[in-house]
Amino acid sequence: MSGLEVSGLTVRFGGNVAVNNLSLEAPLGRLTGLIGPNGAGKTTTFAAISGLVRPDEGIIRLFDRDVSGLAAPPRAQLGLGRTFQRPELCSSLSVAENVALGWEARAAGGNPWRHLVPRRTDGRALREAVATAVELCGIGDIRERKVGSLSVGRRRLVELARVRAGGYRLLLLDEPSSGLETAETTRFGAVIRRMVDEDGVGILLVEHDMALVMEVCDYLFTLDFGERIFAGTPAATRASGVVRAAYLGDAVLQDAAG
Ligand SMILES: Nc1ncnc2c1ncn2[C@@H]1O[C@H](COP(=O)(O)OP(=O)(O)OP(=O)(O)O)[C@@H](O)[C@H]1O
Ligand SMILES: [Mg+2]
Repeated sequence: MSGLEVSGLTVRFGGNVAVNNLSLEAPLGRLTGLIGPNGAGKTTTFAAISGLVRPDEGIIRLFDRDVSGLAAPPRAQLGLGRTFQRPELCSSLSVAENVALGWEARAAGGNPWRHLVPRRTDGRALREAVATAVELCGIGDIRERKVGSLSVGRRRLVELARVRAGGYRLLLLDEPSSGLETAETTRFGAVIRRMVDEDGVGILLVEHDMALVMEVCDYLFTLDFGERIFAGTPAATRASGVVRAAYLGDAVLQDAAG
């Protein structure tokens, strides 16, 4: 399996077990959802996958390589990307310039001097990476706009394009639809679906918006109290009594259906 594989992940904070013996896969070319109630351990799972939290037990594999012993930067260098709850874009720069920063950060790798002294020969590769990412994320029409003038929804798309321009192939998205209006959420869902279908990236999506999750995901893992309680397609998840009891009340389900 090429992509992300988590086996037997356990993370404790003091006496509190945040994630308990969790296994999941997020292969390339699939949009995988990770859902569950508040405090279920979703963000902690992301932190362990990224290398920001040291697990008590478990193995993380990335593109068939055991990365459990690696720090966060080398995992990112292998192609693991994430976007953040608080967008870290530069408001005074244009969309295209922000996307270019993603490429430059990756191209510079561990060598900070290359941020300051980019090689001339990189110009063409940079332009191509930016053009591809901007097009993929459907923001070609606003590429010269200053990011500060954009809606939250558009900024999320710029963030996605920036991560993609950085060459990241496996994306962790933690509640990307928070703060978006319904139309923006729909657009965002279409863009991530396209990144998976046309570009072949793998996405692991944490999201509370069940309409979005049920619409765009191929496969879902459901957590409760740090444990995986269900794994299956959105339809199977929706039908599961265990998931209903833990998380999806009837109201939420009707929401998703409508
Ligand atoms: N740094 C930390 N120190 C101690 N406890 C923590 C820490 N981070 C998370 N926890 C605890 O671990 C558990 C899982 O939290 P986590 O943030 O992973 O949940 P979540 O599924 O992302 O929830 P939400 O849907 O609200 O974002 C919770 O009980 C939380 O209080
Ligand atoms: Mg969280």
